[in-house]
Amino acid sequence: MAKVVEVPRGYYARTHEERYRAIMGSGAAFRERDMSEYVRPAWREFVAATELSDGERGVEMGSGTGINALRMASEGLPMVGLDISPTAVSRAAELADGWGVDARFVAGDMCAAPFRSDVFDFAANIWTLHAVGEPDLRHRSLVEMWRVLRPGGRLFLHNEASREDVDADDVVTVETNTWNIGNRTVRLTRPDESQVEVSVPGFMPEGLTGRRSLREHVDEVQRAGFEVTRAEEQGVRPGPDVPENPMMFVLARKP
Ligand SMILES: C[S@@+](CC[C@H](N)C(=O)[O-])C[C@H]1O[C@@H](n2cnc3c(N)ncnc32)[C@H](O)[C@@H]1O
Repeated sequence: MAKVVEVPRGYYARTHEERYRAIMGSGAAFRERDMSEYVRPAWREFVAATELSDGERGVEMGSGTGINALRMASEGLPMVGLDISPTAVSRAAELADGWGVDARFVAGDMCAAPFRSDVFDFAANIWTLHAVGEPDLRHRSLVEMWRVLRPGGRLFLHNEASREDVDADDVVTVETNTWNIGNRTVRLTRPDESQVEVSVPGFMPEGLTGRRSLREHVDEVQRAGFEVTRAEEQGVRPGPDVPENPMMFVLARKP
């Protein structure tokens, strides 16, 4: 029988915005130094495999404070970043000024992306789908990535994964007006290297998960209309909630 999970109306916008406000209010930086050591090698493989060249235009859906898009822009790829948190978008725009690269950042929902169709040469989605639990929202966001890409455009998807299939279609969500998402404490580093503990809302209600097996990721990407060109598990990154935290990436192409 399907499991029923109560989800607060519009919780993605609230939970991410509150999270960024709490982190920045503490004086800590959130992933501002460089691409993660897991994303970097996968990104290099994407660039090589898809023969990405100077001047090709990219979009990062769920760009946070912008580090991936900034790095990509510094490699000669004009970038647009989209994020649901206006606070993250402002910080990313501030960082872009400092980096002096061709990157701009926009606040909005990747399930209804504020871009015309067929305009980007590549789309990146990094550590964002693993923060989205509902199968229909995941599908809508992948379809949006497909829509904004030109034919032949490429997709770079990087996420925390699950070793086992999650069978998320067995979960039914019911909207509620009650906030049922608990806080958790994260330990972060300030620019002067001092440590700070910050209480932030969790990503989603108990009972939902954004993790999927590699096979499930591939299915989702194909269902959105992409041709998958490569799909790989990487090493295991120990996480605060999950000691076993396999990472994976999928490279795909809009036919
Ligand atoms: C774990 S963070 C990763 C941020 C960035 N990609 C990185 O690797 O540093 C997930 C990001 O997805 C954004 N996000 C979640 N749901 C979104 C949605 N529906 N539309 C746009 N952004 C979303 C969050 O605000 C958050 O910045």
